[in-house]
Amino acid sequence: ETTAVDKGEKRASFTGRIGYVMAAAGSAIGLGNIWRFPYLAAKYGGAVFLIVYLISVYTFGYVLITSETVIGRKTKKSPVGAFRHFGNTKAHSFGGWINAIIPMLIAPYYSVIGGWVLYYMFSYMQGQVKELGGDNAFTNFISSGTSVEFWFLVFAVCTIAVIFFGVQNGVERVSKVLLPVLVVLSVVVCIYSCTRPGAIDGIKYFFIPQMQNVSWMTFVTAIGQMFYSLSCAMGILITYGSYMKRDVSIEKSTTQVEFFDTLIAVLAGLMIIPAVFAFYGNDASQTLKAGPSLMFITMPKVFGSMGFGMAIGIVFFLLVFLAALTSSISLMESAVSTFQDELGMSRPIATLTYGGIYIVLGTLSSLGFNVLGNVKLLGMDFLDFFDFITNSVMMPIAAIAICLLVLRSVTLKGVEDEVTYDGAPFKRKKVYNFVVKYVCIAFLVIILVSSVLNA
Ligand code: PHE
Repeated sequence: ETTAVDKGEKRASFTGRIGYVMAAAGSAIGLGNIWRFPYLAAKYGGAVFLIVYLISVYTFGYVLITSETVIGRKTKKSPVGAFRHFGNTKAHSFGGWINAIIPMLIAPYYSVIGGWVLYYMFSYMQGQVKELGGDNAFTNFISSGTSVEFWFLVFAVCTIAVIFFGVQNGVERVSKVLLPVLVVLSVVVCIYSCTRPGAIDGIKYFFIPQMQNVSWMTFVTAIGQMFYSLSCAMGILITYGSYMKRDVSIEKSTTQVEFFDTLIAVLAGLMIIPAVFAFYGNDASQTLKAGPSLMFITMPKVFGSMGFGMAIGIVFFLLVFLAALTSSISLMESAVSTFQDELGMSRPIATLTYGGIYIVLGTLSSLGFNVLGNVKLLGMDFLDFFDFITNSVMMPIAAIAICLLVLRSVTLKGVEDEVTYDGAPFKRKKVYNFVVKYVCIAFLVIILVSSVLNA
């Protein structure tokens, strides 16, 4: 069969290391860092969670990012073609497709949440500080089908527009501008939160071990969060790897992506945990454990009650929006790339075709809280359902498929050859080989089982 590359069309590529790092870090840094990481850290033991998280970034995360980038760059294909490159068996095709389908299913519901963020940002711009901090503001908003759908469409159009412009002019260019802005805005919000009266208790809560909250779930959750946060096992890094030139150092690039992603997660912890302590005092730890409502209910309350509420509300939701946008771009890029490679579509046609699916699935999630409120899948509304099957079920399976592909088909020698192709040494080779051979798969099975049981 022929692909665009065989037909003599050149595969798109990033201009160089910075392009890859910005795009991959843009993918990694997202709602997971800002919304999920802080409450998980607060719920599962503070510093203990943080340490487990850091170790797992350095071990499992490193293995997965490196493997996927290697697989993508070696084969110059999106996931399906990349797996097939190593063998034309049912197992290879299953591994490829599961990696390819995950981003197609995540992009829609992820963008629905992106739409909520936009709604908050615009409402702050209109000065609705008191209203947003009110008790029912969030529930009222998501129970209106039209508003949720409208803001989802605005967010979706932003994503589609960037994809339309292609890898260098769209994805890379946008990420290169947005990522630095995001870092600066994060520092601003962080300073604001940490200087509120009472914030110091929050900083302590985050950086001191909270042994009463440590259980074996600390480990499972930290590792699961790390995979999600680094955008591992979702086909994305295979796709982005396929756009990476061979003179770029894989090890340097992946290390930088890990660094940025972890930096923003820690900064987000420092934006959210101290602010909640400043506002709730002794009840803060209870509020933090409540989890997901943190960003859309608790933070607006905090902003509503403190100085500069409007300004900080705008800055905070703008930064969350930028983080979410670059992640959704990477999800859609992966999906579109599969349509191009597997169905031989041109980029504009692939963008429009997947764009249609994206809007239909996103609309289901948008309407799941209102118009379609009675429809439940496995007892969940659409958004939670898509989140559950992708992150809790498919992601660990996709990650296992990648590890097996490395061990059985690519081989450790093959990985080393690709990592050292530009002449650089493979510094973390021992860690890589040990973890991929003996630890990764076992842990992924544990994560799969425990997240399904916890559903
Ligand atoms: N890594 C992103 C985050 O932390 C989420 C994401 C997952 C993005 C999968 C793309 C793909 O929010």
